[in-house]
Amino acid sequence: SPAAIIAPSILSADFADLGKECSSTIARGADWLHVDIMDGHFVPNITFGAPIVTKIRSHVAKPTENHGKGTFDCHMMIAEPKKWVKEFQNAGCDLYCFHYEAAISSTAAESPEATSDAKTNPKEMIRYIHDCGMLAGIAIKPDTGVDVLWDILESTDEKEKPDMVLVMTVHPGFGGQKFMASELPKVTELRKRYPDLNIEVDGGLGPGTIDQAADAGANVIVAGSAVYGAKDPADVIAKLREAVEK
Ligand code: DX5
Ligand code: ZN
Repeated sequence: SPAAIIAPSILSADFADLGKECSSTIARGADWLHVDIMDGHFVPNITFGAPIVTKIRSHVAKPTENHGKGTFDCHMMIAEPKKWVKEFQNAGCDLYCFHYEAAISSTAAESPEATSDAKTNPKEMIRYIHDCGMLAGIAIKPDTGVDVLWDILESTDEKEKPDMVLVMTVHPGFGGQKFMASELPKVTELRKRYPDLNIEVDGGLGPGTIDQAADAGANVIVAGSAVYGAKDPADVIAKLREAVEK
């Protein structure tokens, strides 16, 4: 597997002090910051948008100056992922991870402000994100089978290939939910086919569940409540890394 990447989810950080929370999380050994964007439509919860990302971005050095450290991994739990690519690019997002389900859904096309191309082919989304200078990720919810990804991952055009696949291990929307081990066969199957792919897992991960996820082949580890709820977040980050690297 590729190198371990630990990406604490700032969803569980102190929102009243988010800039400082971001810089100290990197100082405590995190590689990336996982930034959960929720629109109250694709998921039953609302977080924040690009203006907040712009503000907190300035508290963390860009990954280009830092061997990838400090990557803002934006997990877009939104119904119209295409509509917000430019805005998040301008906000300093480094990796734009959209949901497969949102890209193929007709919901976007039905929205009053939507343009006719709002219903998007995932490969076109990936190309568009790359053209905007960001890394591209594609996420699947627990109810979505991993088989929908084969055609996308087999694309012969580099611009249409995702840099990361995110396998959700909870139903997206909230931090602090119970880890769904039932999703790990997706990770195993992805790792078997793609030895070098960045495979991210998100939801319910912590010292008690990391071994199963690491054994399945996940290398990008999101953890919200396990990191920010800990007395010693640096120790949890180190433990997660050890489990992936062992
Ligand atoms: C859930 C979010 C997660 C969340 C994980 O919809 O995508 O990133 O912050 O939180 P924990 O690690 O507490 O399950
Ligand atoms: Zn997330």
